[in-house]
Amino acid sequence: MKILITGGCGFVGSNIAIYLKKKYTNIKIDTLDNLSRRGASLNLKRLRKHNIKNYSFDIENYSKIKKMPKYNFIIDCCAEAAVEVSKTEIDKVFNTNLVGTFNILKKCVADKSNLIFLSTSRVYSIELLSKLKSRLNKKMKKKFLINKYLSTKGAKSIYGFTKFSSEELIKEYSYLFNIKYIINRLGVISGPWQFGKQDQGFVSLWVWKHLNKQKMSYIGFGGKGNQIRDVIHIDDVSELIYKQIKLFKKKYNLLLNVGGGQSNAISLNELTDKCKKITSNNINFSVKKSTSIYDIPYFVTDNKKVKKIYKWKPIKSMDDIVRDIYLWMQNNSRKLKIYFK
Ligand SMILES: NC(=O)c1ccc[n+]([C@@H]2O[C@H](COP(=O)([O-])OP(=O)(O)OC[C@H]3O[C@@H](n4cnc5c(N)ncnc54)[C@H](O)[C@@H]3O)[C@@H](O)[C@H]2O)c1
Repeated sequence: MKILITGGCGFVGSNIAIYLKKKYTNIKIDTLDNLSRRGASLNLKRLRKHNIKNYSFDIENYSKIKKMPKYNFIIDCCAEAAVEVSKTEIDKVFNTNLVGTFNILKKCVADKSNLIFLSTSRVYSIELLSKLKSRLNKKMKKKFLINKYLSTKGAKSIYGFTKFSSEELIKEYSYLFNIKYIINRLGVISGPWQFGKQDQGFVSLWVWKHLNKQKMSYIGFGGKGNQIRDVIHIDDVSELIYKQIKLFKKKYNLLLNVGGGQSNAISLNELTDKCKKITSNNINFSVKKSTSIYDIPYFVTDNKKVKKIYKWKPIKSMDDIVRDIYLWMQNNSRKLKIYFK
């Protein structure tokens, strides 16, 4: 079996690549990544140890994609994935995220490849999610689970728009060219080899800042740190992708919500407590009260459908996630310094 993973030197792509390589004996995996993300070059070294080859060019470049080998599956993990970046770098986000998916779809048509697309929970209406703000005041009520029935109408950020438009384009291509696909709408993913930033990959950033006793800020929603997200460990995502490939002949053309779910739902304050506990460090937080128009107060995933179809569920708890990141950072502390700024 031959698999191409786009964005394969990123956090998600590289971990899925190595996980699949360990699970299957008879598998060839290539990645396509222009190495633009901080830390991508470190991930490339990890991939090379597993005999995974990277094609280092831009996903916008279809003439190069066209000349790549044929693959049974393309797992599309390539994106400019930071919501805040999509406010200012609109051309880049549009081209990488939407034109990128378009190019991958053309390649799927040419080679009759199947497609697994990594979408996002940010495809939903910001206005609707903002109304869930009241949840923040009712101490830790995390019972409202979000699935595909929540409205995707209205503004969702340029990032969310490009991912949602990619989903729609995939469905059109499936209808017109019989491309078989799975779309996974993922909530926050975390784990080792994530080079987090405040607006993307916040869990790993939180652990790093605590480990190195650096200052941080609670931003938005009054600066109280009450925002809630559910977090899924990258190993649980990788296991799901493994199952999706294994069962693909019978189960395809699916749109699935995937996340850590209610048991892995956590506020920033609670995450701070976990980081304090594991590092034994107490750091200073400044407060920035005003809220970005792209921020949402709450997201917790309803995994019901994906659990039923694949007899899968997230295994790793929030404590496991924080511990795995902490151990990774401790073991690689020097090497990682330049990647967390
Ligand atoms: N990390 C999360 O919490 C999360 C949550 C939901 C969905 N997702 C989705 O999962 C996928 C992977 O996210 P990630 O966290 O691994 O992000 P990442 O930034 O770590 O990885 C993306 C990779 O794509 C590469 N890339 C960016 N622009 C490119 C271009 N124009 N051409 C070629 N390569 C390019 C980068 O170098 C990087 O290695 C994305 O599609 C994202 O939307 C991520």
